[in-house]
Amino acid sequence: MNIIDRRNFLRGSVCAVAATAAGAEAVSAVSISGNPIVKTPGRLIVSPPILMNAAETSVGVTFEVSADASGWVEYSTSPDMSNATRVFSGGTGLMTVDDKLAHIRLTGLKSATKYWYRIGADRIDYKDGYGMKNLGSEMDVRIRSFSTIGAESSGTFCVINDTHDRKEVLDLVLSKVEKLKPSALVWNGDATNSTETKEHGIKIFLHTHEKHPEYASETPLLFVNGNHDLRGRFARKMNELLMFRDPTERSGEYHDLGRNFIQRIGDVALIGMDTGEDKLDTNPLFAGIYQMKAYREKQARWLAEAINSPIVTEAKFKVVFCHIPLFDSRPDANPGDLAPADTAPGYPKNWAAWQRTCANLWGPLFEKAGVQLVITAHQHRFRYDSPDFNRSWAQIVGGGCGLDKMRSDYPTVIEGFVKDGMLKIIAYDVLNEKIIGEYSFS
Ligand SMILES: [Fe+2]
Ligand SMILES: [Fe+2]
Repeated sequence: MNIIDRRNFLRGSVCAVAATAAGAEAVSAVSISGNPIVKTPGRLIVSPPILMNAAETSVGVTFEVSADASGWVEYSTSPDMSNATRVFSGGTGLMTVDDKLAHIRLTGLKSATKYWYRIGADRIDYKDGYGMKNLGSEMDVRIRSFSTIGAESSGTFCVINDTHDRKEVLDLVLSKVEKLKPSALVWNGDATNSTETKEHGIKIFLHTHEKHPEYASETPLLFVNGNHDLRGRFARKMNELLMFRDPTERSGEYHDLGRNFIQRIGDVALIGMDTGEDKLDTNPLFAGIYQMKAYREKQARWLAEAINSPIVTEAKFKVVFCHIPLFDSRPDANPGDLAPADTAPGYPKNWAAWQRTCANLWGPLFEKAGVQLVITAHQHRFRYDSPDFNRSWAQIVGGGCGLDKMRSDYPTVIEGFVKDGMLKIIAYDVLNEKIIGEYSFS
């Protein structure tokens, strides 16, 4: 049973009521495209949508299809979908036809605005460049909603991390996120262990947990790479599954920095950075096919410009998200720059516990920008580091993916919001169902 089937099955008795509304919506959809809704063997849309790249004026929509299809999204500022705009996969020009995924990027949206949307796809019978037929549209009749973020918006952000595709952990953290209802969900890396195929990636991000099929259908993601998300053959093509951010957010040499972001939720500027792998490019394990040094340096150049944007300068609070911590007071914590192979006497682990290179590259820019807090992950142990003489920003390290209540690697959800002119951060241990830290920033 696929996810949409299961969802409808679970809704059971309410389906009869929903069917009436669904029928009306279907007629409306046909009138826009001119394509008939046709019955075809098997469903064409086989996952709920996920919303990618929370932003002020854009959002990405991705869902799975079961056969050659060109996906689309209709969106409206009205819950009845009046005056809906339809946007197709691939934007303008040649529309995308794919047998696994539909990606639709909605652009030109108003900031801090609620939209309603529904997804659909045209089934395409494709033989060759002159032999193709549009067999008609299939639509998921559910009307969902999302809100754009921006300086005028209000709301909260939530952070999850290091779920490592462990279903029990995902159940815990996503249950908490559903209760907190954030404006954006930061997935701060290590969603995966190693992603070798697109099919595997689809399972991780589109069929994330059977109890939470709509985990990102109304809450846009801000995805931040962890070191494990950079591993595997398909990791090199992950933007074919997890859309890069809208290219108009950056320019020039930064066109490929598709995971970096500066965005606002009210008075909070959210800054996304990618610390990359936890081993050096020179480590023989990596076969000379990683260029993280250049990647981190390019991000530093991007950041130096980004912090001059009004998105950052006009924000009262600045919060950075990156996977690998940028500070560790333990003398034997591997700092990630032990050339050539991540080993040296006095360091028991041969991988980076923290990222000194990134701290040196980006830390001065955080100081210049007035960053108050850096939220990280990777160590699988919750920790709070206060600012000190050398570092004006605090650091939170998110928890792990352990399920033994006797251990300290419990999973966490970190919530942030502005209240009474202060940035409030609440850290939840979702295994033991308790708050483990509350912090305020002025
Ligand atoms: Fe991890
Ligand atoms: Fe990690």
